[in-house]
Amino acid sequence: MSKHHVSTTINGEPVEFLCETQQTLLDVLRDELGLTGSKEGCSSGDCGACSVILDGRLVCSCLVLAVEAEGRTIETIEGLARGDVLHPLQRNFLELAALQCGFCTPGLLVAAKALLDRSPTPTEDEVRYWLAGNLCRCTGYDKVIRAVLEAAAEIRGERLHHDAHR
Ligand code: FES
Ligand code: FES
Repeated sequence: MSKHHVSTTINGEPVEFLCETQQTLLDVLRDELGLTGSKEGCSSGDCGACSVILDGRLVCSCLVLAVEAEGRTIETIEGLARGDVLHPLQRNFLELAALQCGFCTPGLLVAAKALLDRSPTPTEDEVRYWLAGNLCRCTGYDKVIRAVLEAAAEIRGERLHHDAHR
């Protein structure tokens, strides 16, 4: 069967690829394009490890067919940093020890970015609600929530509590 030709913009760059009808966007990102930061946890939309931002909306890339990406804009975890400069979310995850394993962390960061893009002043409840679709089997979420709130404050030009850590 012939493959589909798909043209997209990924992390600000035009990207074209060929895919099978049944391939998911996650499959193509990881297996065809080498963007392995998005992880495959459940393949059923339950864990958030595969989170990407598609035309500004947070989606599970395991639930999106690659052909559906035609003409659309995708942001993945690989696009968060600007060269060597970490996104405020990434830096606050590091500084506040919110960094968890390589499976859940990329999805948490992408989901948090999608939240801050649409809501720069989230409450703690909003952050917890927004990240409820990103599962970690190992630990609590308090440091993650704190890091997202700190990053939001930093992006707004405010400081919260952890200047002593700098
Ligand atoms: S791998 Fe997509 S939600 Fe779990
Ligand atoms: S799943 Fe990543 S630290 Fe628990």
